[in-house]
Amino acid sequence: MINTNLHEYRVWDVPTRIFHWVNFITIISLIFFGFIMLFKKELGITGIDAKVGLKEVHIIIGYVFLANFAWRILWGFIGNRYARWNQVLPGKGFKTTLQRYISSVKNGAADQYTGHNPMGRLAILFIFLLMATLAVSGLVRAGTDIYYPPFGSLVADYIAEDGTNPDSIRPYVASGTDEEKVAALKAFKKPFGLVHLYGAYVLMFMIVLHIFFVVRVEIKEGGSLITAMFTGKKILTKKPVDLE
Ligand code: HEM
Repeated sequence: MINTNLHEYRVWDVPTRIFHWVNFITIISLIFFGFIMLFKKELGITGIDAKVGLKEVHIIIGYVFLANFAWRILWGFIGNRYARWNQVLPGKGFKTTLQRYISSVKNGAADQYTGHNPMGRLAILFIFLLMATLAVSGLVRAGTDIYYPPFGSLVADYIAEDGTNPDSIRPYVASGTDEEKVAALKAFKKPFGLVHLYGAYVLMFMIVLHIFFVVRVEIKEGGSLITAMFTGKKILTKKPVDLE
């Protein structure tokens, strides 16, 4: 039987959709090159040039990821209703909304939302925090590993031996550097590397969870969540809770 209670809502604006897919593509590429770096020995990749080259590729994709993320943060203040931070992140009265949503799911008649459902909001908050952690730790490693912006010239200035032009020092080459300062830098950058790596593992877990729940909600609750990320339009069968 044809369901005549379907209503179409314009939800995700073009910039939000572009952000989503650029974010997806850059993160998948960063994970791909991150793992090539991590397992380069096993893959038979050796030599300083290859090591530096892989980092350069990862970092350049990282800059695209960062620019896209910065743009989304800005768009959260000027975009349409659904792109705004007060619609994306958990806010006032969130606990009650979450409890109501969970009990509606348990009762087998999940509340429908034009924007994100409360669980989606929590997931997005966590994913954004992870992205920010990876961005900061990645930028620190970009500067401390291969002297890339924004911190690279500061790092090169610090480790260059007296009388050596900082621009002349090369990643993983000891000549022209101060041994003690290189050791201090190594100790400083280590925790950032660990945070970056474990952050990447947690983010991968969140990506799998995100896709699993999006598919599950789409099948069990409807709402055309997946097509909405392409078309911007959601099709709902009930009156959405966030328009009540
Ligand atoms: C979602 C974002 C990101 C993910 C999932 C990610 C993932 C990874 C992974 C899996 C590694 C390998 C870990 C290792 O070698 O120990 C790595 C290393 C690295 N990443 Fe990222 N990354 C992200 C963002 C960035 C950004 C924005 C930058 C800088 C612009 C960056 C710079 C680096 C650098 C310099 C390394 C080498 C660190 C090392 O040798 O320990 N990453 N990344």
